[in-house]
Amino acid sequence: GLTAPRLLAQGSPGTGELLRSGLPLPEPFRVPLPIPPVLSPQRTPDADLYTITQRTATAEILPGVRTPIWGYDGIFPGPTIESRRNRTAVVHHRNELPVPTVVHLHGGHTPAESDGYPTDLVLPRSGWDTGHAGHGMTDARAQLSNGSRDYVFPLRQRAATLWYHDHRMDFTGPAVYRGLAGFHLVRDDEEDSLGLPSGERELPLMIADRSFDEHGAFAYPSLDRTLRATPGVESAYVEGVFGDVILVNGAPWPVHEVAAARYRLRVLNASNARRYDLALDPPPPGGGGFVQIGADQGLLDAPRVHDHLPIAPAERYDLVVDFGRYPVGTEVTLVNRLGTGSTAQVMRFVVARRAPDESRVPAKLAEIPPLTRDQATTTREFSFRAGTVHGREGWVIGGEPFSPDLMSASPRLGDVEIWRFVADIHHPVHLHLVGFRILSRGGRPPGPFDGGIKDTVDLSPGESVEVIARFDGYRGRFVFHCHNAEHEDMGMMANFEVL
Ligand code: C2O
Ligand code: CU
Repeated sequence: GLTAPRLLAQGSPGTGELLRSGLPLPEPFRVPLPIPPVLSPQRTPDADLYTITQRTATAEILPGVRTPIWGYDGIFPGPTIESRRNRTAVVHHRNELPVPTVVHLHGGHTPAESDGYPTDLVLPRSGWDTGHAGHGMTDARAQLSNGSRDYVFPLRQRAATLWYHDHRMDFTGPAVYRGLAGFHLVRDDEEDSLGLPSGERELPLMIADRSFDEHGAFAYPSLDRTLRATPGVESAYVEGVFGDVILVNGAPWPVHEVAAARYRLRVLNASNARRYDLALDPPPPGGGGFVQIGADQGLLDAPRVHDHLPIAPAERYDLVVDFGRYPVGTEVTLVNRLGTGSTAQVMRFVVARRAPDESRVPAKLAEIPPLTRDQATTTREFSFRAGTVHGREGWVIGGEPFSPDLMSASPRLGDVEIWRFVADIHHPVHLHLVGFRILSRGGRPPGPFDGGIKDTVDLSPGESVEVIARFDGYRGRFVFHCHNAEHEDMGMMANFEVL
């Protein structure tokens, strides 16, 4: 096993050890960018009803190669759900996979019973011996369902790019890696009135890295704590799993033809552990290629212009890129400045034609109610560090690995609290239930990418970050955790209970 110091010496996620694919990688920018299908609901007066079947399937991800996946409706990414603010979506999930699953709507303002608590398992339809489900099964409060479950999302929240993914205790990393992730977009009238690029000029982009074994299957080291991790990849496993193929919407380094016009890009980093620093190559004349209009939890108050964009696992950035700033014929590559070799490129846009563009990016986007330090009734501090978990190297919050029985914070409903996080290496910290604002980073005001309302914040090594949130809406037990999925599975998760 690794000692903590050696582990830390390996650097931060994003530069970690790579799992090399066992077959030749395809040429980049050949496969067209897929857009996940939008699921049609059954509409009732009170809610939109959806059914999703979680099942095994094969997908042609690398050209000519069949990759077994676990998919929502058998596809990766899963189908996109599009909801309106304040309109309840009920998603009936059927589990036809061989393992228990848990669905979490990431960024959803969701009652506890539908939030996908990591031990609220949906057992496989084919049956499951609960004795095999791991120590999560000792959680007396766990809500088990047999074969299927209705998740109820009231969506009393601003328009935002949400996503849904598996969240089973100790097994989120391998389940998401196999394909259990999809978009859930929330729209509202405020956003519709702005005239932002829409229709085919609005692209959801789910970025995720994967490696493939020599047969074309996703390569993932064993996650069973009772087994030794695969020799040679143990450190990759401890630090997080890093693939050498960059997928966007499930396609390797895809290409997309665009008009010389503004496009809205809803960028999601759905990677288990990899961080990216995105940029456009070439940059448009004069720079400032990314106009950020939104963060994890919806629109910013005003657009912010960036030349590059760091994005950690689970973060979303809503961007407008004006391809009209490039001559027709330009190939614009979305690059990753944290990558090397195959991981330094993400996808390519080809500016294919002139076209009229009626879209706008207004100077004022949204009203964001302030949340100030003096409104807070409580300040809490949590450290995110390497630590011992069941006798092995793992990751802990406040010195403790995750246990369903350990309550780390109990805000009262409606309270405003400041939570201060400190980190040893990079940890993207995510709170369920609430959106938060970043109050300070490293003792200084928030940085250029910290604007708006977020639900995931990337801590840099040694840094302390303060966030402020109002714990409103729903009582009950929720989790917060590192969204490096391997860190999360190796203990870096904790509970809070809204009283
Ligand atoms: Cu994206 Cu607790 O998860
Ligand atoms: Cu972490």
